[in-house]
Amino acid sequence: MRDTLLRRLPVEQATRRDYGGGRHRLPVTYQTRDLVILGLGVMIGAGIFRISGTQAATTAGPAVIVSFLLAGLVCLLAALCYAELSSVVPTAGSAYTFGYVAFGEPVAWLIGWSLILELLLAASVVARAWSLIAAQTLADFSVTPPPALAGVIGQERGFDVFALGILVLLVALLATGGRLGLRTLWFMVLAKLIVIALVIVGGLRFFDAGNLRPFVPEGRPAGGGSGQTVLDALLGGTPQVFGVWGIVAAAPAIAFAYIGFDLIATAAEETEDAPRKVPRGMLAGLLIAIVLYLGVAVAMVGMISYRELDPARPPLAQAFAEVGAEPMGRVIDIGALLGLTTVILVVLISMTRVVFSMARDGLLPRPLAAVSRYRTPSRATLVAGGAAIVLSQTVDVLTLEQLVVLGTLFAFLAVSAAVPVLRRGRPDLERPFRVPGGLLVPLLAIAGVGWLMLNVQVRTWAYFALWMLAGLGLYLLFGRRNSGLRDLPPPPWPPLSAPPPPPYGSYGAPPPPGAPGARQHPMGPPPTRGGGRHRR
Ligand code: ALA
Repeated sequence: MRDTLLRRLPVEQATRRDYGGGRHRLPVTYQTRDLVILGLGVMIGAGIFRISGTQAATTAGPAVIVSFLLAGLVCLLAALCYAELSSVVPTAGSAYTFGYVAFGEPVAWLIGWSLILELLLAASVVARAWSLIAAQTLADFSVTPPPALAGVIGQERGFDVFALGILVLLVALLATGGRLGLRTLWFMVLAKLIVIALVIVGGLRFFDAGNLRPFVPEGRPAGGGSGQTVLDALLGGTPQVFGVWGIVAAAPAIAFAYIGFDLIATAAEETEDAPRKVPRGMLAGLLIAIVLYLGVAVAMVGMISYRELDPARPPLAQAFAEVGAEPMGRVIDIGALLGLTTVILVVLISMTRVVFSMARDGLLPRPLAAVSRYRTPSRATLVAGGAAIVLSQTVDVLTLEQLVVLGTLFAFLAVSAAVPVLRRGRPDLERPFRVPGGLLVPLLAIAGVGWLMLNVQVRTWAYFALWMLAGLGLYLLFGRRNSGLRDLPPPPWPPLSAPPPPPYGSYGAPPPPGAPGARQHPMGPPPTRGGGRHRR
């Protein structure tokens, strides 16, 4: 057991292993611009159209703008840590693989298991939201669905044809080839960016500074609907809304809107010159998202007083109706429909990559790591997508949005902690992107993410604990016994004073002439432009 706890995946093996002669490697498809589109595709979805309004009305008032800034800042700190690790370990497993090389197999399994929770639930939650908006869009344009569909579309729970249909369509699309998915994604992301620009510009035209007063409404105890957070439980207090606490209390819900920048790391194996392009694409995507979210939040709370907002109704449509621009509601519904479609698409892509990576390492059944004739992990796509379909139709997933956030924050925490651990354990590795400021950023990221996690409700933590316990059981029964590392001794990290090891591929062989002790990137030198056989 002790050996299992200690076994870590060598960085070189994580990045260069042959994985069965090519059946287990993904083709290179993405450039930096594709990664930005992937990031915006998954970040900008349900959150941007809904969260600023609902959180302003229920928790933070106009100061929801500050909550967006706070949540954005914490995510930026975590993104810097993701960027550093993606530049050293650019593989499809993202946080799971970072955990494998930094902390060892059991922790890596738990990170992977929590990523699966995040992605499985996110796909199901967003598919449900997609159905609600699709039904609303039909109503916007006075389209009456056939009587046979009454009661099975736009439902919050139970069987729903729209939620089922969108998931089946996207899973089939992805299982039969990623490039079609990428082109579709570009088109849909650009369309939704145009809608968001219209919302910001249109909303700012009706901006009334009076709606921002008071900017931080007086705090008060929350109503019955708000459950106790871990922090409330620790401090023995009752949940608070508005005031300074309200600003902080809104941040975990807002974190849902930022979820997705982390998923760019799962595209690393399919990215040309990933050690450089993944950090760039990830940080650029997140910065653009922060600016757009702030723009929408300012437009939202500037159009209508938070007191007049009914949190049960779509907030942006309400605000535009209030200022006499009702048709904008229809534009927003179309934008939201496109937005949510790309979120589901990228979430499914990422979930498949995590499952693929864990299967490739032997921690999930190995057949899931096969790349099909469509040059995509079709089996992993069908299994992971199938699980999302079943979940979306059988569980009341819309009530579990905070569980998506908690699973994601767990991965953020692990990645932030992995940066100092890997720097200490493998200082020899070349880091094409290195978080500036020494340990300050990782430590601030750990503190910020930890703080957000404490602000999640106790009930959500209980569900999370159950999921992780089930995962631990599965690891002990399956993963530990089938791990690709089971027959290898735990690889020792070199003592800090020792010369750096040779690059993988020449492990055990002398270093190349002329480069003794040179810093090595475990991926080797970046490919020359136009040289790869996988160039698009
Ligand atoms: N960030 C994604 C959304 O807001 C999950 O829908």
